[in-house]
Amino acid sequence: MRRPFVAGNWKMNLDLARGRELVGAICAGVKSASRVDVAVCPPYVYLASIAEVTRGSAVVVGSQDVYYESQGAFTGEVSAAMLADVGAQYVIIGHSERRHTIGHLEDDRMINLKVRATRRAGLVPILCIGETLSERKSSQTLDVLTYQVRAGLVGVTLDRPEQLVIAYEPVWAIGTGEVATPEQAQEAHAHTRSELRAVLGSVGDEIRILYGGSMKPDNAAVLLAQPDVDGGLIGGASLKADSFLGIVSAAVAATA
Ligand code: PGA
Repeated sequence: MRRPFVAGNWKMNLDLARGRELVGAICAGVKSASRVDVAVCPPYVYLASIAEVTRGSAVVVGSQDVYYESQGAFTGEVSAAMLADVGAQYVIIGHSERRHTIGHLEDDRMINLKVRATRRAGLVPILCIGETLSERKSSQTLDVLTYQVRAGLVGVTLDRPEQLVIAYEPVWAIGTGEVATPEQAQEAHAHTRSELRAVLGSVGDEIRILYGGSMKPDNAAVLLAQPDVDGGLIGGASLKADSFLGIVSAAVAATA
C-alpha cells in the first residue's frame, strides 16, 4: 500500500515569524506515529529557518522550485545541492503557476532538466502535471497528462518508488475553489499511473500521485478515498494549521 503524502505549498505567502509559528503548530499536530508523510514548502528565503523548526518532528521541508545547473553564473537561481544543504527533501517542479502564470513560462524540457537535477542531488521531485480548462473542454486531458509525464521523465530512472512524487493539479481547480470531482480525479490519476508504468515499469504502481486544486478538509476524504489518489498538494488550505491538519487527518483516516 502506498503511504499517503500531504504537502503544503505556501507559494509567496506569510512572513518568517508567521511561517515559523505555522510550521511549529503543524509539527505539534502531526504525531510522529501517524501513517502519512507530511511536508511544507516555504519560499526559498525561509527554507533554512523553517527546516530548523521541523528538526526532530515528523514534518519535512521542500522547495517550490529549483534550477537545473549545479553552479555558476545564473543570477537569482538556486541549485538542488543548495536546497539539500539547507535541509530540503522535496522539490516542487513544473507547478502550473510556473508553467502558465509567471513570466518564466517553463516548458516540459526545462521541467525535465529540473527533475533530473533534483534526482542527481538526492532530493525527491514533486512533478506537477495538469490540464487547462480549455484542454479539458476539448477532451485533451488524458493526452496532456501523457505528454507531461513522458516529457517530464525523459532519462529519469528510480531505484525506489519514494524517489519520485507526481502531483495531478488541474489548472482550472488551483486557487479557484472549484475542485475536481472524485471521478475526474480518479480518471486522471489512473491514467497517470498507467503512463508511469509504461515509462518506469512496475515501480510505477508504487509511486505516489497527489491531487492538488482546492483540496480542503471538507472535500479531502472523498478525494483520498479514490484508489489512485495518494495524498494532496495543498495551496490555500496549507496556510492555516487547522485546515492543513484537517487534511492530514483525512489522509490518516484513509489508511484505516
Ligand atoms: P490550492 O493550490 O490548494 O490553493 O488550489 C494548490 C496548488 O497550487 O498546489
